[in-house]
Amino acid sequence: MKRTVFRTRSFEEIIVVFVVLLVSCPLAYTVNAAVQDEAAVNIMIIHTDKGTEKISRNIYGHFSEHLGRCIYEGIWVGEDSPIPNTRGIRNDAVEALKKIKIPVLRWPGGCFADEYHWKEGIGPREQRPSMVNTHWGMVKESNAFGTHEFLDLCEQLGCEAYIAGNVGSGTVEEMQDWVEYMTFDGDSEMANLRRKNGRDKPWRVKYFGVGNENWGCGGNMSPEAYADLYNRFQTYVRSYSGNRVVKIACGPGSENYPWITVVMERCRRNMNAISLHHYVRGSGNWTRKGSATQFAEAEWFALMKNTLTIYPLLKGNIKIMDQYDRRGRIGLFVDEWGTWWDAEPGTNPGFLYQQNTIRDAVSAGIFLNAFNEHCHRVKMANIAQTVNVLQAMILTKGEKMILTPTYHIFEMYTVHQDATLLPIELQSNDYRFGNNSIPALNVSASKDSSGRIHISFCNLDPSNAAEVRCALEGVEPKEISGRVLTAAAMTAHNTFENPEAVKPTSFSNCKLEGNVLTTTLPAKSVVVLAIE
Ligand code: AHR
Repeated sequence: MKRTVFRTRSFEEIIVVFVVLLVSCPLAYTVNAAVQDEAAVNIMIIHTDKGTEKISRNIYGHFSEHLGRCIYEGIWVGEDSPIPNTRGIRNDAVEALKKIKIPVLRWPGGCFADEYHWKEGIGPREQRPSMVNTHWGMVKESNAFGTHEFLDLCEQLGCEAYIAGNVGSGTVEEMQDWVEYMTFDGDSEMANLRRKNGRDKPWRVKYFGVGNENWGCGGNMSPEAYADLYNRFQTYVRSYSGNRVVKIACGPGSENYPWITVVMERCRRNMNAISLHHYVRGSGNWTRKGSATQFAEAEWFALMKNTLTIYPLLKGNIKIMDQYDRRGRIGLFVDEWGTWWDAEPGTNPGFLYQQNTIRDAVSAGIFLNAFNEHCHRVKMANIAQTVNVLQAMILTKGEKMILTPTYHIFEMYTVHQDATLLPIELQSNDYRFGNNSIPALNVSASKDSSGRIHISFCNLDPSNAAEVRCALEGVEPKEISGRVLTAAAMTAHNTFENPEAVKPTSFSNCKLEGNVLTTTLPAKSVVVLAIE
């Protein structure tokens, strides 16, 4: 069965529009051919002259928590480490993250944020008290990586800082002091303490979250109780010395619609954004989530199907936001998302260390396409997590570092950052598995500031290539080029022994005839095309 993914026109209407476009096409391209193979071919129209919304670069943001080996080992190795570092921060990780143009980094949690007391993480490192990381493996947290180290990391990366404050076990005064410490340029106790600790000028801290998952690990609150606390805490999150803070309220996990309704209703005047968290897995449950690398097609299909739930989920949350914020002032920040599998065998289950296959990469491509499509409201997204935790970009082992297939998706998708979203009509074939089916194709398109068009295609089907015929309305394209991420096996992934098993290659199976683009996407692939 054919599926219209964006239901702006019926299938018949899309075919009619498509045929009209072909007839008016300057180069000879037979209409018959287009209609004859319509059953096999995925049909698309991209309105290259109709884009209005900008895709915020922050949709390509990241999240790093004091969890397992994300901060310690993954980012922070200390100044005395033999691993090349700048003021204790791994150079290889910084270099890799700069290549994907990391726009914003969220820290210090996650659940850790609501038990973090920032004053324990400043001053001479040898004098900082340690604590127990109760959420993540009950291990000792040395506080060696604190506010100065995080903001140094953001400066090395050239990205915005997004700090998550402690509502669950913190105080209003503590939160107020933190913002003053980081951003106040004048003469105050906190600003002077910062100077004493070696930083004269304040940092720019653009994003500040008031709590994290306060319906769960951040205090197990009711939405009403959190809403009251949010309004109180945020009052003291001040914008000092020209640093305008974007305040983020804690939103729901997945489809907790009652939560977002109450928080929007009671806090909307005091917030700039609200968060949403959404993790996906295969057909397992939270106790047995399934292996990241040992799976069959049933698990592949389940992940693809679950990933597509991001579309109704965004729509559902945005619908509620629209009721309370008709003008669209408040951003939806999906500040935790990604795949979540059983921890790799032999590792601490509390460290959430998982491998990453081409399956995770296709899932990431779909998520990012969905965020692009809803960029009128989705102003930020932060994949969980940057290094060695969950759907990481980077895995490290001592001095070795490898890039995951998901990293490569972020690198290929940098072209969408700050580009204009282009409306698409897509008639996709199905990917069938047993008695179930989902659309086989998932697509997003944008136009950058130089007029270049970029299309990111995900072929969800692990066994069948997808033929696509796409009319580019409103443009006379001249050149096309592309890159692909795919693999022979569904479970393909990079290891320290074979770090480049999955990496992007150039893609030439695409052509332009007039304003019609035809291409065949390999099975289980993500393809990004550039058209000028
Ligand atoms: O990313 C791991 C955890 O998932 C975060 O700490 C928490 O916010 C979420 O439940």
